[in-house]
Amino acid sequence: MNDLHIPESVAIIMDGNGRWAKKRGLPRTMGHKEGCKAIEALVPEAGKLGIKYLTVYAFSTENWKRSEEEVTGLMNLFRYYAMRLLKNARENNVRIRMIGDRSRFPKDIIDSINKLEEETRDNTGLNFVVAANYGGRDEIRRAAMKYRDEVLRAKELGTDISELSEADFAKYLDTAEVPDPDLLIRTSGELRLSNFLIWQCAYSEIVITDTLWPDFNKDELVKCIEEYNKRNRRFGGV
Ligand code: FPP
Repeated sequence: MNDLHIPESVAIIMDGNGRWAKKRGLPRTMGHKEGCKAIEALVPEAGKLGIKYLTVYAFSTENWKRSEEEVTGLMNLFRYYAMRLLKNARENNVRIRMIGDRSRFPKDIIDSINKLEEETRDNTGLNFVVAANYGGRDEIRRAAMKYRDEVLRAKELGTDISELSEADFAKYLDTAEVPDPDLLIRTSGELRLSNFLIWQCAYSEIVITDTLWPDFNKDELVKCIEEYNKRNRRFGGV
């Protein structure tokens, strides 16, 4: 473990909360509650390991389709964990950022997202990036609209910005300040990207574990990093 190369940027699809609850005859919301505890415990450990960016999929643009009871349960968990996250971030020098379209959340949740970002802005440890009301296609669509607005503004000023490199376009994405994931982890055995960071994961190493998200912990994370260390990243070269 001592000579492990620690990836700078790690992303996680935290899947399996529902199955974890079902196995115990509990409501799905209890699985999400345990899932929150798991991420809360993992954040300081990820920082201690030397990871610089940890991005997690907390709520997708598709998750609104779940039952009203489950969506309300998740919103209430966000409310409760926002406060705990702030305390956790202060104690562990963690900077919190949110990606996704926050405008669809209730006002009090938008306010607490803004507060989490503002109050942790100067922290220099782990960057904890929470994807909420996030969808990769929606992010690219919103980025294209931001770019269009910029082109229109430039036209009004009599200038032109017709050339656009991949790196230029990435600046319009929600992740403009977050390096692309070196490692993408998905728990609970599914082999899908599920619309998560579809632009950014172009060259990420993907590690799938059968562990259900509420059971994921530091030891599991280290196992995923060990698996990542066995890979030979070529970025399309030879
Ligand atoms: C997927 O499990 C999990 C989610 C849709 C929600 C994940 C959210 C959390 C763990 C909370 C994160 C909170 C903060 C504050 C960062 P699933 O319900 O799809 O599980 P299943 O596939 O077994 O049904």
